[in-house]
Amino acid sequence: MFLSYVRCCLLSCAALCAGAVALAGEVEVLHYWTSGGEAKSVDELKGMMAARGHTWKDFTVEGGGGQNAMAVLKQRVLAGTAPAAALIKGPAIQEWADLNVLTSLDAMASFEKWDDLLPKVVADQMKHKGRYVAVPVNVHRVNWLWANSAVLKKAGVSTMPKNYEEFFAAADKIKAAGFVAVAHGGQDWQDFTVFESVALGVGGPAFYNNALMRLDKSALGSEDMKKTLEVFRRIKAYTDDKSPGRDWNVTTDMVIKGNAGFQFMGDWAKGEFMAAGQQPGKEFTCTAAPGTENAYTFNVDSFAMFQLRSWEAQKAQGYLAYLLMGDDFQKKFNLRKGSIPARLNTSMDKFDDCAKASSRDFVATSKAGTLLPSVAHGMALSSAYQADMRAIVSEYWRNEKTTVADTVVKLQRIAAPKQR
Ligand code: GAL
Repeated sequence: MFLSYVRCCLLSCAALCAGAVALAGEVEVLHYWTSGGEAKSVDELKGMMAARGHTWKDFTVEGGGGQNAMAVLKQRVLAGTAPAAALIKGPAIQEWADLNVLTSLDAMASFEKWDDLLPKVVADQMKHKGRYVAVPVNVHRVNWLWANSAVLKKAGVSTMPKNYEEFFAAADKIKAAGFVAVAHGGQDWQDFTVFESVALGVGGPAFYNNALMRLDKSALGSEDMKKTLEVFRRIKAYTDDKSPGRDWNVTTDMVIKGNAGFQFMGDWAKGEFMAAGQQPGKEFTCTAAPGTENAYTFNVDSFAMFQLRSWEAQKAQGYLAYLLMGDDFQKKFNLRKGSIPARLNTSMDKFDDCAKASSRDFVATSKAGTLLPSVAHGMALSSAYQADMRAIVSEYWRNEKTTVADTVVKLQRIAAPKQR
């Protein structure tokens, strides 16, 4: 039945689906896009579903990075009341597919030629045993440093820092000028986000790959790891007292409002700047995090579709999957979200310079072998390994009594030869 709906949509097209009220259904979608910029992005999707007569049922779970959402999703699936779709990323897609609760999207994917429309590195993450079970909507770059242009000017910082020496020199000037140098929200996933950018900038792509992705014991105990931890801790001195527990978007707002100079964050932060009416190159600046200019940590938002009983719900779900991969949706959505389309060959004409740079760098780093999955955003490790590493990194950030040596030992303990 699901396949025949897919064929209806794909063969006899959208017009039939649009006109036929009898084909409308409800989709319940789990996501954690609740900040200003994120809500505007998801509104694009809701509008497009509504235009086809489908009802969107929001299932939002607050909490940046999605840890809370994943916990709630587990309860719902165990209770037998899975939503139609959920924002699930990276290896977690495989974990859900292994439980045999996801719907195969392979008929639609082969008919619509998703393999040709997506970069291989993205397509591979959407597949379980070679079959599509999730739909990618974007590519976020994580290794960015954001800055308030006016704050930098007032502090006498004329160029964005390219390495940590320049970064700390700039941060000193910003602090001396009376601003918070680094806006940081002290939540474990935000600590981890900064940490992975520092690791990449200090140790380089090979170290990042060996230590954070392969969990190689000697890389985890290397001089590069020690240096990474030292630089990471040094950054903390430039954050403010109210940092602990603060949400990422409230933190971005400090940069938007000109209370802080820098923020390390993925380009969903750009969605906040834009929702506040600011533009890159004017009110704010984007640049690769220090030392990471020639590398790219990617984070792909994707929706996995759960098996549903009701035929009406399956129809709406099929349409959602079809819509998410569409050129029109990916353009509109990503213009607001801060990311770039996951689809290849989508015109970047309407996108700003940060997005254009991201798109160019995605291709260039892919060729150079420095396109790397974001560990902090669930693109590289299984949920369990990711959680272990996040806890160690965050404990080190929060508790200054924790030493580099202790942290290295803890990190090496998770380098067990278990399946990742
Ligand atoms: C990321 C997610 C983004 C953004 C961010 C803050 O993990 O991929 O879409 O929402 O968290 O919640």
